[in-house]
Amino acid sequence: MSMAEVTQDIQTVAPTGAETVETRVDEILASYIGEKAELIPILQQVQQAFGYLPEEAMSRIAKFVDVPECTVFGTATFYTQFKFVPTGRNIIKVCRGTGCYVKGAPRILDEVEKVLGIKDGETTPDMEYTLETVACFGSCALAPVMVVNDRVYGRLTANKAKEILSNRE
Ligand code: FES
Repeated sequence: MSMAEVTQDIQTVAPTGAETVETRVDEILASYIGEKAELIPILQQVQQAFGYLPEEAMSRIAKFVDVPECTVFGTATFYTQFKFVPTGRNIIKVCRGTGCYVKGAPRILDEVEKVLGIKDGETTPDMEYTLETVACFGSCALAPVMVVNDRVYGRLTANKAKEILSNRE
């Protein structure tokens, strides 16, 4: 397998200036009927639209599915996929699992942190990149692994990681 396995990038479509969080959320809610069982799919769609779950969206969602706001927050905080702060347009995830660790993941993470100038969990000031680490991508045969948006890069070296990030700029 080549170094890069290409999958489709997820495009986060932020609302335009004229479009408020409320109007975008209402557009999303219009395709649901307001059942409690729809809570997770709604949260996923709102996050896909904004890149995170804006506070204003939570009360609207709570009213729509007729549950207390704390239930919506409680559900969202239970799942690590949901974020409550804006993230960068590109999400860089570096695996810190054992399989990747023994194949040099710490060097990959060091290099990525150096190139982006941020640490794990941080976002660049221009909102271009958010850096995260994950426990395992389930692609240990490709260790060490880094994922940029939905694109998987395997058998990395620190130099290749630097090259990948530099070519994106
Ligand atoms: S340990 Fe890194 S992909 Fe599994």
